Amino acid sequence: MSQMKWALVILAAVAVVGCTKKEPPPPAAEEAAAVEEEKPTIPEVEPIKPLPNSVDVNMEKVLLGRSLYHDTTLSGDGTISCATCHMLDHGGAEPRKTSTGIRGQIGPINSPTVLNSGYNFVQFWDGRAKDLQEQAAGPVENPIEMGAKWEKVVERLGKNKEYAAAFAKLYEDGVTKDNATDAIAEYEKSLITPSRFDKYLLGDEAAITDAEKKGYATFKETGCTACHTGIIAGGTMFQKMGLVKDYFADRGTPITEADLGRFNVTKNPADKHFFKVPTLRNIELTSPYLHDGSRATLEETVKVMGKYQLGKDLNDAQINSIVTFLKSLTGELPAHAKPTDT
Ligand code: HEC
Ligand code: HEC
Repeated sequence: MSQMKWALVILAAVAVVGCTKKEPPPPAAEEAAAVEEEKPTIPEVEPIKPLPNSVDVNMEKVLLGRSLYHDTTLSGDGTISCATCHMLDHGGAEPRKTSTGIRGQIGPINSPTVLNSGYNFVQFWDGRAKDLQEQAAGPVENPIEMGAKWEKVVERLGKNKEYAAAFAKLYEDGVTKDNATDAIAEYEKSLITPSRFDKYLLGDEAAITDAEKKGYATFKETGCTACHTGIIAGGTMFQKMGLVKDYFADRGTPITEADLGRFNVTKNPADKHFFKVPTLRNIELTSPYLHDGSRATLEETVKVMGKYQLGKDLNDAQINSIVTFLKSLTGELPAHAKPTDT
């Protein structure tokens, strides 16, 4: 096929994902200017920024990526898929302390959510992958996760008529590792979950309750937004777990390699116990919490954060108020997120 034709095919396949938003009628130009002068719009002054309602993705790649994400063919013994550890019904994470991979092997760390993961500045707790495509190559060959070889996976996918046709349509070189991870990354990019809180940020005062507004104020006043900031309330920086008090000394279990965090990548002692600040979107759904999966409830986790990250002994009222706010960050999956046959 000619270059030109390809460009057209790809253009035609680019679709916009997500729910359609009803735009309010545009105010008269002078009126809008006057409002802007009086008060900056909410998103500019708030530490948390709204998630968009849609992202530009190639919908055909997204659907191919969705099939791959849910397919156990990508594992060495046909038992594990990405969805085994990143369950869409569990906020994109897993209900276990640490992951269980192929042949029941227990992994060293809790799986973070894949939802909204396109907004992370790097991937993994320690930031060892620069983007979603690079990340997706890892678990397939990880001996305690999916325990496969890409060479074999590519061979298996190529023998499957539907996959072979889908890849051939989207990629000149058909089924390859890079194309498979590209499609998976495109699918993940499409997994955005706008919530009521975004409506509030965009000016709809009634979108969240007074108790949630109070909780958001407490969250900000307490200092949580020093680290949990930006579009996904996280994912923008590395920070030390136990910034003001030694979390690991108090935890009561030995320090593991996974606890060393960013240090494992840089080997710089100053990076010990630094982790990518995780997103707080859909946090209501992703128990257990922290990289070690050591806290079962949000209340406990918020208490830990106050104590070890901010040196503050939060009382129950403050904790409950913050948790009330955090629940307003629970969003909705886009309609195409789940495979249609399950
Ligand atoms: C056996 C469980 C398991 C399987 C299978 C698995 N993952 Fe993960 N995933 C994890 C764990 C655990 C981490 C965190 C590891 C770390 O940070 O060191 C992770 C991290 C990630 C991240 C980074 C998120 C972030 O916030 O940094 C993404 C994205 C992701 N996985 C996507 C996938 C995809 C795509 C697949 C399938 C190709 C997959 N995972 C298969 C357990 C799993
Ligand atoms: C100094 C930076 C910093 C501050 C301040 C901070 N956090 Fe965190 N937060 C982190 C880091 C880093 C992690 C990951 C730590 C780990 O997994 O061991 C985290 C993890 C969390 C988690 C668990 C996320 C998950 O997916 O398991 C929640 C919930 C949380 N923080 C809420 C809060 C709240 C509420 C506040 C304010 C009381 C707060 N944080 C203040 C850096 C911070």
